[in-house]
Amino acid sequence: MIENVIVTGGSRGLGLGIARKLVDAGYRVVAVARRESEELACAIRQTEKAGKGSLVFESFDLENTRDIADLVKRLRKDLGPIYGLVNNAGLGTSGVLATMRDSEIQRLVQLNTVSPIILTKSVVRSMMARGGGRIVNVASIVGATGYRGLSVYSATKAAMVGFTRSLAREVGPLGINVNAVAPGFLETDMTESLGERHREQIARRSALRRLVGTDDVGDAVEFLLGKKSRNITGTVLTVDAGNTA
Ligand SMILES: NC(=O)c1ccc[n+]([C@@H]2O[C@H](COP(=O)([O-])OP(=O)(O)OC[C@H]3O[C@@H](n4cnc5c(N)ncnc54)[C@H](OP(=O)(O)O)[C@@H]3O)[C@@H](O)[C@H]2O)c1
Repeated sequence: MIENVIVTGGSRGLGLGIARKLVDAGYRVVAVARRESEELACAIRQTEKAGKGSLVFESFDLENTRDIADLVKRLRKDLGPIYGLVNNAGLGTSGVLATMRDSEIQRLVQLNTVSPIILTKSVVRSMMARGGGRIVNVASIVGATGYRGLSVYSATKAAMVGFTRSLAREVGPLGINVNAVAPGFLETDMTESLGERHREQIARRSALRRLVGTDDVGDAVEFLLGKKSRNITGTVLTVDAGNTA
């Protein structure tokens, strides 16, 4: 039976990288985002030809938390039980706290923390009924290390780590594994404003002297969804080329 996995923010950047890996591994991936990007449309066409797993797009604004339960109900009805959830969608708004608008702070907390928690609540109910499942939350190394100009973003990511550990304890007895990945700097739309000098500096300061790619994080997520990680739960897997080593 083909297993269904929801990947939020699966239209581009890291989410699309994760979605591609999971399709190659034979899953049916539901990429949730507001808009279907060109890259995603192209990936969907490629997977139709390749015939391994499959990739479908679901348009949804995750800030709209009131409709999340209906979204999950609809996906279950259309596709069947949900095996995996990857909470990846997020905003990377940076700014000095003292001058940040309250509305920006609220939006960051909403999309990076509140929405994935509410989505997980709906999905975990379906996993409980099925007697198992896998949840992977996308955190970030800055949630543990801190970074100037990213205090609110870091708070949302640290919150997801606390959520991961506690939920793992709560749903472990029901056969559901909950883990997080903490990527280092990745070249995506979120980080496009960082200059070349900054990228080189990050690579230089990493133990392996290089940057991490979305593929590397995709491999880690695939591992956390697969059979080989059946006894891993409540952990954070750091994928940062040794930036925080
Ligand atoms: N880039 C990095 O260096 C880095 C490092 C560590 C961790 N991370 C984490 O990795 C995750 C992905 O980051 P990224 O760099 O790939 O970001 P990105 O390139 O900006 O992509 C964000 C994704 O989230 C979706 N999204 C944004 N707002 C949404 C909403 N309201 N409802 C539904 N989907 C929404 C976007 O699609 P639409 O705009 O079409 O909705 C897009 O698919 C985030 O959680 C981020 O914090 C990133």
